[in-house]
Amino acid sequence: PAERVALKDKIRRLLKEKNAVLVSHYYVHPDLQDLAEETGGLVSDSLEMARFGRDHAAQTLVVSGVRFMGETAKILSPEKTILMPDLDATCSLDLGCPVDEFSAFCDAHPDRTVVVYANTSAAVKARADWLVTSSCALDIVRALKEKGQKILWAPDRHLGDYIRRETGADMVFWNGACIVHDEFKAFELQELKQQHPQAKVLVHPESPAEVVALADAVGSTSAILHAAKTLDAQEFIVATDNGMMHKLRTLNPGKVFYEAPTAGNSATCKSCAHCPWMAMNSLAGVAQVLESGSNAIEVDPALIPRARLPIDRMLAFTA
Ligand code: 13P
Ligand code: SF4
Repeated sequence: PAERVALKDKIRRLLKEKNAVLVSHYYVHPDLQDLAEETGGLVSDSLEMARFGRDHAAQTLVVSGVRFMGETAKILSPEKTILMPDLDATCSLDLGCPVDEFSAFCDAHPDRTVVVYANTSAAVKARADWLVTSSCALDIVRALKEKGQKILWAPDRHLGDYIRRETGADMVFWNGACIVHDEFKAFELQELKQQHPQAKVLVHPESPAEVVALADAVGSTSAILHAAKTLDAQEFIVATDNGMMHKLRTLNPGKVFYEAPTAGNSATCKSCAHCPWMAMNSLAGVAQVLESGSNAIEVDPALIPRARLPIDRMLAFTA
């Protein structure tokens, strides 16, 4: 604890000295979430992280999250310095969607509007017509369908199929998955529901369809927070990264939150539903990059104008 206190003091001092701001995702360690809020930064989902980074006056952003979040910040503000605690913090959706294969997939479907999830590389974004995150995907696809457009969706197949079921849009999918949400198990979730019959089930739509089918509320990180606050219940079972538990518990004192079962955590493991790449963010890493200026995110300048287009569309749609 003494070391954590010292590191937090050091980060507070360095943020001021360097005129920098800390932006943290809901899935990173509670210390990094609290510090971001306390120092005038932000803890939020990937959509609001992008908007905040674009609009904040600070010339240096420290992004606690995964690489695509840092890249999105850089694409929106190429003149700013974007630092990340660990440049190897990636995402299975990004890794599973290499640009060459993705471009060939787009070429094979020239009649479709290309909608990609934020969890992708800058090069993949540069092939897209629209960017979406889980908090706005449904509304954007619904609007495109109303205009008569057919959709090519990448990379998360579970989220894509959930949106297809909800909107009835004509969609073809890339075969990607989030290694965290893909692991939630419907059978074990049924059992947990029986143990806690009063509990409402909150599910992120990157989870398999059988798990989504058991939900009382389905949605992005922000939607899950909203549901926990507004649904008439005192107990919840939550199928998303367990980094969310911190915010859920601090915003809802007195309510009880259980982690939904994954293959690993049903009997023994208490923290299986946690992204290994989000877990690479640490107080020590933030202090180190602020002090040294190392780990700056770079995006190929030739890609930036084209990659920015779908991001700008999303931010304008959700403004
Ligand atoms: P949000 O877009 O809701 O932040 O979450 C997506 C995700 O899995 C981030 O890694
Ligand atoms: Fe990617 Fe899933 Fe980790 Fe989010 S939680 S960064 S979608 S692997």
